Amino acid sequence: MNFIYALNFKMNKTATETKEYMQKFDSQNRTVIICAPFTSIFEIKNNHKDALIGAQNVSEFTSGAHTGEIDAKMLADLGVKYCIVGHSERRKFNHETDEQIAEKIARLVEQNITPILCVGEPNKMAFEESSKFVENQIKLALKNVQSPVIVAYEPVWAIGTGDVPTNEQIENMCEFIHKCLNELNIQAKVLYGGSYNSKNYKTINNAKFVDGFLIGGAGLKLDEMELIYKG
Ligand code: PGA
Repeated sequence: MNFIYALNFKMNKTATETKEYMQKFDSQNRTVIICAPFTSIFEIKNNHKDALIGAQNVSEFTSGAHTGEIDAKMLADLGVKYCIVGHSERRKFNHETDEQIAEKIARLVEQNITPILCVGEPNKMAFEESSKFVENQIKLALKNVQSPVIVAYEPVWAIGTGDVPTNEQIENMCEFIHKCLNELNIQAKVLYGGSYNSKNYKTINNAKFVDGFLIGGAGLKLDEMELIYKG
């Protein structure tokens, strides 16, 4: 299966550490998107000319008086092709709303950057409830979108905890997300994210309706990822 692997470095790796990582990086012909901190983006491109570059956030505004913000045009100019939006950590710690997330997505699309929209229920809940929660997130974030997107299903309770859903749970939700996006007429890939690593990848890789993975902790380690790329 030709999976997409999107690595979310989060607030890890200095520019120097990213440079070292990229000098040893070997995607083994896999589709690997490296979503590094803004300060490291230059090092991705400089040390690996074919790497797919992602960011982890973007301003909902265009350039102007927004101290400390980064606009989508600045990302595009650096060769950024993908950007994570609405990660649960930003929804929680930075109080990002669905309306802001929709604006950020609009700014990215204007610059031909593919959004990687993160959705997922905050706690373990029955499918009926979690699917409603996720559907609402999708509809609000993508209400004005026609271009292709990537949606990452990340149950918040699985992120960084080692507590992963069963394949059946992943399949049910990813199938549901594909259905929602079809109804909205949006072309999309659906990723799974949350504690995906070298111990569980063989199992999770068998889940149907999954086009790839959004990977946090494991993505920081080259040797762990090499195992995973081998399949
Ligand atoms: P994790 O993070 O793989 O460390 O659980 C995933 C994410 O937050 O995107």
